[in-house]
Amino acid sequence: MGGMKPSARHITMTAAISALLGLVPAAATAADAAAGKAVFAAKCKTCHAEDGTGNPAIAKMMKVDLKPLGGAEVQKKSDAELKAAVSEGTGKMKAVAGVAGADLDNVVAAVRALKK
Ligand code: HEC
Repeated sequence: MGGMKPSARHITMTAAISALLGLVPAAATAADAAAGKAVFAAKCKTCHAEDGTGNPAIAKMMKVDLKPLGGAEVQKKSDAELKAAVSEGTGKMKAVAGVAGADLDNVVAAVRALKK
């Protein structure tokens, strides 16, 4: 009497795995974000770390709080504001040279992809 049949258990597992796969970011912006990730690695990672949480040594050296780029405070900014931070600088962050045009669009897509 009772108990889940093995087949039912299997279906439950499959559903759980599908739900997890659903967390993978949408493919629509994948190309830009992927290209931007390379720009990020070359131009931003030293200070912001690959996952955007910030390099503690840089934060200490520059005497500044590095806000996590994936966090709400940074993510609520518009694309234009994020671009301005890169091309004009913001607070203690100097303008980043050599990031313009498509690179700038793509790096913003990469920052969006860090969203938690
Ligand atoms: C030399 C280190 C350094 C590099 C390289 C750097 N940043 Fe920053 N960034 C900082 C610091 C420091 C801050 C915090 C500034 C402050 O709050 O005074 C910051 C802040 C930011 C912010 C938050 C802006 C805000 O107003 O809260 C964004 C977005 C950002 N950086 C994006 C980038 C991107 C994208 C790149 C690469 C194109 C980059 N940064 C490269 C040091 C750096």
